Amino acid sequence: MALPQLPRVLLSIAVLLAAIVGGLYLQIRPLLLAGGLGRVIESVGNRNCSMVPELQACEKVVLHQPTGKIYLACSALETRVSWTPALNRLDATGVSGQDYVATYDPSTHGITRLKLAGFNSTRGIHVHGMDVVPSSVDPSLLYVYLVNHRPPAYGDAKKLGADSVIEVFKTRLGSDVLTHVQTYADQIIITPNDVVGSSDGNSFYFTNDHGLKTGLRRLVSTLLLTPDSSVGFCHADQGCKYAITGLHSSNGITRGKSMNDTFYVADCGLGDVNVLERQWDNTLVLTEVIKTGTALDNLALDDDGAVWVAGLSDAIGLLTKFSDLSYKVASSAFRITINSGPSSFYGERYQVDKVFEDSGEIASGTTSVVYDSQRKRLFLHGIASPHLSVCRL
Ligand SMILES: *[C@@H]1O[C@H](CO)[C@@H](O)[C@H](O)[C@H]1NC(C)=O
Ligand SMILES: *[C@@H]1O[C@H](CO)[C@@H](O)[C@H](O)[C@H]1NC(C)=O
Ligand SMILES: *[C@@H]1O[C@H](CO)[C@@H](O)[C@H](O)[C@H]1NC(C)=O
Repeated sequence: MALPQLPRVLLSIAVLLAAIVGGLYLQIRPLLLAGGLGRVIESVGNRNCSMVPELQACEKVVLHQPTGKIYLACSALETRVSWTPALNRLDATGVSGQDYVATYDPSTHGITRLKLAGFNSTRGIHVHGMDVVPSSVDPSLLYVYLVNHRPPAYGDAKKLGADSVIEVFKTRLGSDVLTHVQTYADQIIITPNDVVGSSDGNSFYFTNDHGLKTGLRRLVSTLLLTPDSSVGFCHADQGCKYAITGLHSSNGITRGKSMNDTFYVADCGLGDVNVLERQWDNTLVLTEVIKTGTALDNLALDDDGAVWVAGLSDAIGLLTKFSDLSYKVASSAFRITINSGPSSFYGERYQVDKVFEDSGEIASGTTSVVYDSQRKRLFLHGIASPHLSVCRL
């Protein structure tokens, strides 16, 4: 009696499955489009570039504007493949412990790997986001803020995820030593991605790129575009608290000119730049969303006040690169300025220009772009990039 019913049940199941798959596709379509599905890669601004292969896998680059030197948070390509918690690479046996901060002087091509002093942790340094901020009272003193994805002290990293913290170091301009100041570990420092520090070494804002360190729920939230990322604020005396929650896929973070109260946070998946304003209690309020249409990573402000952001022209390819390091990943750089042209009358407050794009030969898998507007140099590097790229614009 139940038999004739069966095809009908199967049909219903098939329809249901199709609806789920179709619904899921519609749901993740914005991610796929921003991630590079069907994108035609152009050649923009990539004619006059040089490469520095001695520096590899540097997720974040920070410019010291007065000298034109850059600071880089670097690793090794093989280490990134096994240990990149942001991309669920959680093989703690492949952690090299050889990550480092380097300086690069483009005028002499000099590279300096900074040594760590007073750093008593036996758990090493595993770099990702970084900020370098001159002291407001002594500009040759620099505070260096680093995301440190430590493997868990006990237990299975694949289940627990990274035991991530934020480290503060200080250094002198031209010195080859980073002196440890403090480790910030807190229950709201969950999946830190990038950090923007203060000029007294005492506080910082950071992004959590996910709400959870590992697991199926984390994957499902990514697919459902759940706004489970956040920005936290930590202070040496006051501890840590959330500055804002309910953001989607927060990645790089930077701050407006003269470290004013405007913050910019990249929505990596959807390719938006969220503009936030700091409140009296150090919380942040979302005020505007700037759309680029391309998946984004780190942001940096130039000396003219323009916001530069690394475009993951082929974000899907960046994931491929983690299985095949020779894979060349198309990259771009966007410059965001206040719109002074005629379309500003129609409510387009910001102008977004693609200033650089490359198929991956010159800049592969770029996660950080920084522009020296005085010397007209664009620096590009990436979490699994084989070299630093320096382009004249
Ligand atoms: C590349 O940049 C250098 C330095 O600015 C400049 O002298 C040279 O003419 C540029 N070359 C091309 C092909 O644009
Ligand atoms: C690290 O150890 C040294 C020597 O014991 C000590 O002087 C220094 O204060 C310690 N640093 C931190 C950040 O705990
Ligand atoms: C901060 O500086 C940026 C330029 O970098 C400007 O667009 C923004 O309006 C400024 N914000 C405040 C609160 O003054």
